[in-house]
Amino acid sequence: MTEIIKLNHVNYSVNNSKILDDINLTINKGDFLTFSGPSGSGKSTIMRLIANMISPNSGEILYQNKDINDYEPTEYRREVSYCFQQPTLFGETVKDNLEFPFKVRNKKIDNELLIQKLEMANLNKNFINQKVIDLSGGQRQRIALLRNLMFLPSVLILDEVTTGLDKDNKEIIHNLVTDLNKNHDVTVLAITHDQSELNDSKSIVNIESGKIVEGK
Ligand SMILES: Nc1ncnc2c1ncn2[C@@H]1O[C@H](COP(=O)(O)OP(=O)(O)O)[C@@H](O)[C@H]1O
Ligand SMILES: [Mg+2]
Repeated sequence: MTEIIKLNHVNYSVNNSKILDDINLTINKGDFLTFSGPSGSGKSTIMRLIANMISPNSGEILYQNKDINDYEPTEYRREVSYCFQQPTLFGETVKDNLEFPFKVRNKKIDNELLIQKLEMANLNKNFINQKVIDLSGGQRQRIALLRNLMFLPSVLILDEVTTGLDKDNKEIIHNLVTDLNKNHDVTVLAITHDQSELNDSKSIVNIESGKIVEGK
C-alpha cells in the first residue's frame, strides 16, 4: 500500500478555542474513507486542512511524503480536489462551467470528453446548453462535481455533496464516485451523514469534538 496523505499531530485553533486536537491519520492511495460525526465536530476543518485552504497551528500534513506547502498551490489543487456541499456554478450555461477546466489549463476544449463526463453523471448531451438557473439542485451538484472531474484529481474530497439530494441523485453520485475509486485509482475522502452511504462504507473515520474517536 502506498501512503498518499499523512497528518502528523495536527492541531487547529481559532481564537484560542481548539477545533482539532492532535489529529493523526494515514491515507493510502486508493482508499475510500467516509468521515462521520456530529455537526461542528471538525470534519470540514480536516478537509480544508488537507486541501491546504487553511493551515494547522502545529503539526504537519504530507502529500506523497512531502509537506503540502512544498507544492505549487495550483498544482496541488489539481491533485487534491475539494467539492463543497453548496457548489457555485458560474456563467450562464452548463457549457461555461464544463469548459472552465480546459480554459484554466490552456487546453483545447474536448467536446467528446465533455459529453462523456455528462453521461457518466446520467445527463445527456443536450445539457451542455442548459441555463444554470434552470437546473435542479441535484443537476447543479452533478455539474459542479463534473467540473472538478474533467481532469481527474488523485484525491477527491467530497464535503456532504449528497446532503439534501433525493435518492436518485444520491445514487448517481455514489455510483460515479465508486467508479472513479475502483476503476480510476482516485482516492476518495467523503464526509456524509447519509446512513446508506455509511452502511456501504468499508472504512469510517469518526470525528467527535475535534478528535478521531474510532474507525471501522
Ligand atoms: N474560521 C473559523 N472561525 C471560527 N470557528 C470556526 C472556524 N472554522 C471552524 N470553526 C468552528 O470549528 C468547529 C468545527 O467546524 P467544522 O469543521 O465546519 O465542523 P463539521 O464539518 O464537522 O460540521 C465548529 O464549532 C465551527 O464553528
Ligand atoms: Mg462540515
